[in-house]
Amino acid sequence: MIDETVRWALREDIGAGDVTTRACVPADQRARGRFLAREPLVVAGLDLLEVIYRERGGVDNLAVLKRDGDRCQAGDVLATVRGRARTLLECERVALNFLQRLSGVATAARAFADEVEGTGCRVLDTRKTTPGLRLLEKQAAAAGGATNHRMGLFDAVLIKNNHIAAAGGVRQALENARTAGVPIEIEVRTREELREALAAGAGHLLLDNLTPEEAREWVREIAGRARVELSGGIDLSNVRAYAEAGADFVSAGAITHSARAMDISFRLELDPPAIDIERLRREFPGRTIVHYPKLDSTMRATTGLEAGAVVLADEQTAGQGRHGRSWHSEAGAGIYCSTVLKPSPVLTLALGLAAAEAIAQVSGVACDLRWPNDVMAGGKKVAGILVQLVDGAAIAGIGINVNQTAFPAELAAQATSLRLAAGREVSPTDLLIALLGAVDAFAAEPPEAILRLFARASSYAAGRRVTVELPDGAVSGTTAGLTPEGFLILRKDDGTDTLVIAGGVRAAGS
Ligand code: BTN
Repeated sequence: MIDETVRWALREDIGAGDVTTRACVPADQRARGRFLAREPLVVAGLDLLEVIYRERGGVDNLAVLKRDGDRCQAGDVLATVRGRARTLLECERVALNFLQRLSGVATAARAFADEVEGTGCRVLDTRKTTPGLRLLEKQAAAAGGATNHRMGLFDAVLIKNNHIAAAGGVRQALENARTAGVPIEIEVRTREELREALAAGAGHLLLDNLTPEEAREWVREIAGRARVELSGGIDLSNVRAYAEAGADFVSAGAITHSARAMDISFRLELDPPAIDIERLRREFPGRTIVHYPKLDSTMRATTGLEAGAVVLADEQTAGQGRHGRSWHSEAGAGIYCSTVLKPSPVLTLALGLAAAEAIAQVSGVACDLRWPNDVMAGGKKVAGILVQLVDGAAIAGIGINVNQTAFPAELAAQATSLRLAAGREVSPTDLLIALLGAVDAFAAEPPEAILRLFARASSYAAGRRVTVELPDGAVSGTTAGLTPEGFLILRKDDGTDTLVIAGGVRAAGS
């Protein structure tokens, strides 16, 4: 039923296609969006987002951050979504229409429910709903604190004056209605009808269009023999007076028929430019370049590929770092690349040099190299190298943080991106072209040249106070150059030297 309503709304708005979006937004452009409350409100309709996006082919991620019925303040983010920009744009209006209207109903219901708080009287909604949206508006009313009255003409009897006239009287109408097997309520308009209904065993009475004072008198006469609902002209200014008249329920059509669409906005941010694979292939003709939009890790996708082949992913779900750590691989924000190379003892150092050179060339950011595999910008890591030997080949993994604008809290102190360091967006395609060229160039250099170049490019290679995590604990000292195998020499404070063969180096005091 709800799926059908959503489909109907999408069909009504999108029809044969969103011609504007198709004309202006590239099919592979990705984006993220946020639904924001722009005034205090009670939110409802959030479950529909999942249905809306599913109907349009799905999104990468939808995070609903509030629950229906939550009170929200201006500026609160209700939900975030990531996916194709086309999908987000074509669904925007329908998603907002549902959220704005249903939150309006929930907000109105909350205002009525708050107004009668402490009286023991409950606020009922009515059938005065938008055609086609009965179920959703009733769910929103309930989320806002109202109690649902009957859903339609099928699930409860409500005998009004025309029914009484047609049935031949109050008693007759009640007797006939009992065969329906659903709850029965009867409207009484005079004291005589009231007495007749009570005598006929009515358990639920509707009193319409009384003043609060009249209602109090009628309730006194009923004296608990039936439950009482008051209706007619009930609004926020008088609902408490009606509730205090002793009624069990007050019903207010205004909750649905006069609910205002709440101010909720959708903010869209386009993802930075994606990698232009065709351009890359033109720059490196004859080279195998495999591209995946999403992959666990590019390190695992090089099997069977020849030397020089490159695997790229826009996003990694299980990006690998050194020493079993993970590599944060936000979709579309970084370069996640593995390439098959000839093994060399100084390959990690050569690739760090290549990454630093490509970064400087394309973004202007000058990097330091923290032995052996960290590429640093402004004291934070901007790129990392991971080399694995598989079947006699070196699988070289290079991760560069390119256009991230923020990092998860646990990484924020040590990670940065080129965009943050350079203060502008950087083209991942330009960077990859420079990187692959630099990898080719540095991988062809003899080890002595790499050691010399690394020693020149890295403030960590010699004369730097560092702390190193060794298997039997942290050791402090001063770096004293590299061995021919590329190991780091650490001169400890007692004057003796020790060789550092794996990572774990950090500037002393950091
Ligand atoms: C490190 O600094 O710890 C090494 C990070 C290496 C990350 C890259 S991203 C591309 C390739 N695929 C992976 O899963 N890891 C490497």
